[in-house]
Amino acid sequence: MTDWQGLDQQYMMATYNRLPITIEKGEGNQLIDTEGKSYLDLFTGLAVNVLGHSHPEIVKTIKDQGEKFLHISNVFLNQPAIQLAKTLVEQSIDGKVFFTNSGAEATEAAIKLIHKWTKDGEKSNRGVVVLEKSFHGRTLGAIKLTRQPGVYQDFPVTDMPVYEVEPHNLEQLEDIIKTKKPAAVLMEPVLGSGGILPLEEEYLREVARLTKKYGVLCCMDEIQTGIGRTGKIFAYQHAGISPDLILFAKGIGGGLPLGGIIVSNELSHLFKPGDHGTTFAPSPLSAALGNTVFKVLLEDGELEKSVARSKYLHEKLNRLKDKNPKILEKIRGKGMMVGIVTLLAPEDAKKLQRDLLAEGYLVDVTQQTIIRLLPPLTLTEKEIDAFIEVLETKLQLVLEKELNQ
Ligand SMILES: Cc1ncc(COP(=O)(O)O)c(C=O)c1O
Repeated sequence: MTDWQGLDQQYMMATYNRLPITIEKGEGNQLIDTEGKSYLDLFTGLAVNVLGHSHPEIVKTIKDQGEKFLHISNVFLNQPAIQLAKTLVEQSIDGKVFFTNSGAEATEAAIKLIHKWTKDGEKSNRGVVVLEKSFHGRTLGAIKLTRQPGVYQDFPVTDMPVYEVEPHNLEQLEDIIKTKKPAAVLMEPVLGSGGILPLEEEYLREVARLTKKYGVLCCMDEIQTGIGRTGKIFAYQHAGISPDLILFAKGIGGGLPLGGIIVSNELSHLFKPGDHGTTFAPSPLSAALGNTVFKVLLEDGELEKSVARSKYLHEKLNRLKDKNPKILEKIRGKGMMVGIVTLLAPEDAKKLQRDLLAEGYLVDVTQQTIIRLLPPLTLTEKEIDAFIEVLETKLQLVLEKELNQ
C-alpha cells in the first residue's frame, strides 16, 4: 500500500499539522479514507463544502461545464460568472462584484479598493480598523489585517496603518475612528479562527452607524460566515445593516477555489480597467458551481432546512454543556458555525479531537481549546444525534481521567 503520509512528509512543505488519515473519497456528509473507514465531516475543509461531498447537482454541474470549457480568461464575457454576480448582488447590497480565487485575494482586492477610495476621493483617511484575533488571510497585505500573532509573525507588510480594537468595545472604536481617521473598518460578523465569537447584532448596528457618521467604509469579511453558514446568505444580515463592501470565498465555489468582493454602487466605479485583475478568477467552473450552490440553498430550500437542523444541533450541544459544566464552558456561534468552548488544557482538546477522529468524527480545534464545528448545511438530525452520543462518551472519559488524577 502506498505510504501517503511518508511521501507527504518527503515532498510537501510542512506548513500544516495534518490529521493522520488519507481521504479516498467523499459521499454526502461523510469522508471515507483509504482503509474504507467513514468519518462524519464536521468541518468541511474549513467551511467550504456547504453541500457536503459529491452532491448530485454539484457533480452534474462539473460534468456540464467541463464539457463546455474550463477557462476562457477575462478577455471574454463569462456567462456563469455574470449570473453568479447578479445573484450575489440580489442577495446582498446594490452594487457590483469583483471575483478572486481565494479569501486572501478578496482581502487584497478590498485593500486596493479602500486605497483607491481615499486616493481618488482625495481624502486624508488612511488605514483599517480590525478586531483583536481577527483573521483575514495570509498574503502580505491581508496578513497585516490578521491579528493572530502565530499567523502574522514578522513577515514584511505594506505600510498601511492598522488599528486593532476589542470586539464589542464601542467607545474604543469611536475613539480610534475620531483620532486616527481610518479609511475603513473590517470585521468578521462571527470571528472564525479567532474562536467562533459572534458579534452582537446591536454592536454591528452601532459599527454601521459610527462608520456612516464619520464617513468611514464599513466592510464585512464573510469569507467564513457567508453562503448560508450562519442561517442567512451573509451573517451581517442578522443585524439588518448594509455594509459598503463584503468579502466572500470558501463556500461559494461548492468546493472549488472562488472568492471576491461585493462593493456598493458608490464604490464600484473605483476599479477601472487595469486597476486590478487575475488570470484565473472567476473560473467558469467555480462560478457555475456557485450558481448551483445558490440554486440548492435558495430554490430547493436547503438553507431553510439547515436553519432548523442547526437549532437542533445547538440545543443538543447546550444540553450536553449543562450536563458537563466541568469540561464545557459555553456553546457559541450561529447556524452551522459552532464553537464548543472547553475548559480543557490544549493537549486535552487535541486529544479529544483525535479520540473523535478515531470514532469517525472530524472536528477542528481553534484557539487551542475551542472545538470548532463547520458542518455541511446538509447535516441531518440523525447525524447530529450520533455525534452527540459519541461526544458525550468521550467527555465522560475525560471526567473519569480527571477524577483518577
Ligand atoms: C474570515 C476569513 N477571512 C479570510 C480568510 C482567508 O481565506 P483563504 O484561506 O481562502 O485565503 C479566511 C480563511 O480561513 C477566513 O476564515
